Amino acid sequence: MKIERLRLKSFRNYESLDLTPHPGMNLFFGRNGAGKTNLLEAIHYCALGRSHRTAADRDAVRRDEPAGAVGVTVLSDSGSRSEISIRLTPGEAKGKTVFIDRKRALRMADLMGHVRCVIFSPEDLMLVREGPSVRRRFLDMLLSQLDPACFLALQRYNRALEQRNSLLREQKRTGRSDGDLLFSYERLMAEAASVIIPKRRTAGERLRAIAAQKYAAICGREEEIFDLRYQPCTEATDPGIIREEAALIWKGRREEDRIRGGTSFGPHREDLRLTLDDREMKLYASQGQIRTAALAMKLAQLALIEEVSGEKPVLLLDDVMSELDMTRRTRLLQEIGGAQTFVTCTDESDLEGLSERRTYRVTLGDDGCACVTETRPGDEAEITESAEEPDFT
Ligand SMILES: Nc1ncnc2c1ncn2[C@@H]1O[C@H](COP(=O)(O)OP(=O)(O)O)[C@@H](O)[C@H]1O
Ligand SMILES: [Mg+2]
Repeated sequence: MKIERLRLKSFRNYESLDLTPHPGMNLFFGRNGAGKTNLLEAIHYCALGRSHRTAADRDAVRRDEPAGAVGVTVLSDSGSRSEISIRLTPGEAKGKTVFIDRKRALRMADLMGHVRCVIFSPEDLMLVREGPSVRRRFLDMLLSQLDPACFLALQRYNRALEQRNSLLREQKRTGRSDGDLLFSYERLMAEAASVIIPKRRTAGERLRAIAAQKYAAICGREEEIFDLRYQPCTEATDPGIIREEAALIWKGRREEDRIRGGTSFGPHREDLRLTLDDREMKLYASQGQIRTAALAMKLAQLALIEEVSGEKPVLLLDDVMSELDMTRRTRLLQEIGGAQTFVTCTDESDLEGLSERRTYRVTLGDDGCACVTETRPGDEAEITESAEEPDFT
C-alpha cells in the first residue's frame, strides 16, 4: 500500500500542503516544533479517523480556523486507487466527516481498512510502562484497521457503556432506578462484547506468538522469554455465551456499580499482560528490555497487519531513529522491507543505513506556518504550496 498524494488544509501548523511522496523512503528533517509529527499525524487521521496522540480533534485544526482537512490518495498492491479525506469541523454538531472517493461516508467505520499504517514513536514505551488503557488502545487500533466490524462494535460498546455509567451516576444522585433502561444498555454492551472479545482473543494470540519471536530476534538471547497475554474479562469463547454471561454479570452488579459510579466488569477493563521470564515487565524490566518489548510489540503489529491484509501498511517512524541503538535500528530497517515509510528526525546523522530516499526539510515560516521543501530534487518530486482551497471538502 502506497500513499501517492497527501494533502493538508488548515491542519495543525499547516495552512495548506499538497505532497507527492516517494513510494519508498521519505525523510523529513526539521527543528523541534517545525511540524514533522503533524505530518505523520495527518496520515494517521486518514487511516483511523483520529490522532495517534490522545489529542482532541479540535486541537488538530489550525488555530483560529473553523475547519481543517486531511486527505490521501492511496494505491493498494492490487492496483486499486482510492481517495480518502476527512474534514474536521469541531464547532459543528458533526465534528468530522469522512469522504471516500469524494463521496460522503455515512459512518466512521467505512473509513477503516482503506489506509493502514503503523506508527513508531518514543511514546511506544508507554505500552510497557503505563496502565491497561494504553495497551487496549494499541490492540483496538490494530483490530479496527483490520476489521471495520470490530471498530463498529467498539464504538457501540463505548457509547452504551457511557450511557450505563451516566445513568448509574444519576440514579445514585436521585435515588431512583430504572431497571428497564439499564437493561437496554446492558443488552447493547453484551452484543458488542460478544464481537469484541473473540476478536481480541484471536488477535491477542497471534500477537503473542509474533511478539515473542521479534523480542528474541532483537535481544539475541534465548533465555529471555517475552510474553504478551491477552487478559479477557471472561473465559467464554462462544459469542452467545459471552453475551448471556456478560448481561447477567452487569445485571447482578448494578448496586455495586451504582455505589462506585462506574461499570466494574467488561472489555473496557481488559489488559495485555506483559512478562519477561514470568515476571511483570512494568515492575522488573530494565530500560533496555522495555525498549525491546515495545519495539517487538510494534513489529508484531506490523507483521499481523501484513499477514491478515496481505499488504505492508504504511510505516510512520516519528523521531525513533535517535532513540534506537544499532541493533534495534538494524532490526527495524530489516522489517521495513519494501513498505512505504515516512521518517522524521532532527539530525541527519540518525539516518545511517537508510537507502533510496527522498529528503524534505520542514521549516517554520515567519507567519508560523510549516513549509515542506524537498532538499534533493528528483524528477518525480513534486511539491506545491497552493494558496487555493484544495477541493476535497
Ligand atoms: N492547532 C494548531 N494550530 C497551529 N499550530 C499548531 C496547532 N497544533 C500544534 N501547532 C504547532 O505545531 C508545532 C508542533 O509540531 P510538531 O509536528 O509536533 O513538531 P515536530 O517537528 O517537533 O514534530 C508547534 O509549533 C505547535 O505550536
Ligand atoms: Mg515531533
